[in-house]
Amino acid sequence: MEFPYRKLILFLSILSLSTLSALSHSPFSPVDNFLVDCGSTVGSTVDNRLFVPDSAKRDSSLSSSTRSITLRNENPPPNSPQIYSTARAFRRPSKYKFLIRDEGTHMVRLHFQTFNSLKFDWNNSQFHVLVNGFVALADFRAGGVQSPIVMEFLIWVSTGKLVIEFVPAEKSNFAFVNAIEVISAPKDLVADTAKFVSSDKVEDFNGLAKQALQVVHRVNVGGSKVTPFNDSIWRTWITDDEYLEPNSGSKRVYFGGRIKYQDGGASREVGPDNVYNSARVIHSTNASIPKVNMTWVFPAIAGYKYLVRMHFCDIASISIGLLYFNVYVNGNLAYENLDLSMASNYILASPFYADFVVDGDDSGVLRVSVGPSNMSVPYAIDGVLNGIEIMKLNNSMGSLDGDYCAGWVLRNWPSGHVGFVVPLVAAACLLLSISLVMRRKMNAEGFVAWSRLPMDVSEANAKHGNAHPSS
Ligand SMILES: *[C@@H]1O[C@H](CO)[C@@H](O)[C@H](O)[C@H]1NC(C)=O
Ligand SMILES: *[C@@H]1O[C@H](CO)[C@@H](O)[C@H](O)[C@H]1NC(C)=O
Ligand SMILES: *[C@@H]1O[C@H](CO)[C@@H](O)[C@H](O)[C@H]1NC(C)=O
Ligand SMILES: *[C@@H]1O[C@H](CO)[C@@H](O)[C@H](O)[C@H]1NC(C)=O
Ligand SMILES: *[C@@H]1O[C@H](CO)[C@@H](O)[C@H](O)[C@H]1NC(C)=O
Ligand SMILES: *[C@@H]1O[C@H](CO)[C@@H](O)[C@H](O)[C@H]1NC(C)=O
Repeated sequence: MEFPYRKLILFLSILSLSTLSALSHSPFSPVDNFLVDCGSTVGSTVDNRLFVPDSAKRDSSLSSSTRSITLRNENPPPNSPQIYSTARAFRRPSKYKFLIRDEGTHMVRLHFQTFNSLKFDWNNSQFHVLVNGFVALADFRAGGVQSPIVMEFLIWVSTGKLVIEFVPAEKSNFAFVNAIEVISAPKDLVADTAKFVSSDKVEDFNGLAKQALQVVHRVNVGGSKVTPFNDSIWRTWITDDEYLEPNSGSKRVYFGGRIKYQDGGASREVGPDNVYNSARVIHSTNASIPKVNMTWVFPAIAGYKYLVRMHFCDIASISIGLLYFNVYVNGNLAYENLDLSMASNYILASPFYADFVVDGDDSGVLRVSVGPSNMSVPYAIDGVLNGIEIMKLNNSMGSLDGDYCAGWVLRNWPSGHVGFVVPLVAAACLLLSISLVMRRKMNAEGFVAWSRLPMDVSEANAKHGNAHPSS
């Protein structure tokens, strides 16, 4: 009688061990985690995250800039997160500096929300944003937009600091920001290699991690919106309805079970449960395999490369080894006969993702498709997709927004808008980058700790006796 009893104990303890490991996933805790509530004196809590005021004097070794202005919304709409009821505005180039301890990719989120204020006409708000020498936003306007705008960038930091500069477009303009997040990304968030897909070939694309990336689209295919509260690294995933091409062949699926994250596969930080537990599928219900693709269409700009990350998780097949499909980006075959069972180590409901880099072309759109392959099986699932992320890569000018470099933006302030005579700008940018490298070599000054206060560029230059190119 003893033997089966022991077996039962063994079984139970294995069961409890595996439940334990499922429950004991510790949340991601970033080394660098700056959440700044700009223009505020008290700070705000949003979804259990504390944004500290940028006016707090602690940690700051710089004096307050007299030229920045705090703005407060006296009548914030009910339910609007508190970070949006204050802002800091700048009439001159100004910067926030963050001391970075963790080398690698950092997530930078900038929050913008305009509101009625007697101090400013938002129509005069137009500005550039530079992040560690990359142009993140150029001639940006947020006026007239009702809901908050959140811009997300992924920036590699190896220098121990991250600097965000706000530069008004013209002397009569001002820049502003409501909140800033600077967070070290999980190490596996941006892999260094992807597949570059073009009409004639698929080849390796290396050095991805050190490009500046802007997240331009992030959708939860077939599922509902995922808010920062429900995402492992505080992202927002919107629904895919507005991007999906009308098509009769696809079907939504939802999975109530546990997503089986595995070492070496997509981690919970790469994609949360809420993304992998919903999908759209192509399903063959009889002996013939449907001749359809599921296609999503996203706006994209010619002249930039884009990283397309596709998230897959087989939550719909009744068994492993039945799901094979093709993946296309911009109509080009990116992955033929993707065998999701093999890719996920022969475990169902285990996530996998694939990264492709493509050129934005003159069509103005980027097309992502999944469809049956010639290994697809009848009476089975013949295509699945759970999530799509599209990120823009900086261009050769080091810009995510326009054909001019950060040095040119600073040099031209405040004489006017920066984008004209493009070939000339390109030549000037080249010269500027050479002189910048030389200056950096000559001037290996230590830098001050992260300032919670924006610092005026001209004051900083006076302090360090190091005039930057604007005379
Ligand atoms: C700001 O611009 C919008 C349209 O661009 C216009 O309707 C509005 O009247 C302008 N506001 C002011 C104060 O000029
Ligand atoms: C988080 O996700 C759960 C389950 O998917 C959902 O019920 C809840 O409303 C979500 N909360 C927020 C704040 O998005
Ligand atoms: C299989 O089903 C689809 C609709 O689900 C139908 O259009 C098609 O004609 C069917 N094919 C066969 C061979 O029955
Ligand atoms: C799916 O899309 C690819 C790429 O655009 C195309 O070559 C293929 O013919 C499409 N398949 C179907 C069934 O429409
Ligand atoms: C499989 O599909 C590819 C295109 O996706 C085609 O070129 C090839 O001829 C097909 N192979 C077979 C055996 O049908
Ligand atoms: C992005 O910027 C870096 C540094 O300026 C540069 O080396 C790289 O080539 C740029 N990326 C692209 C795709 O041009």
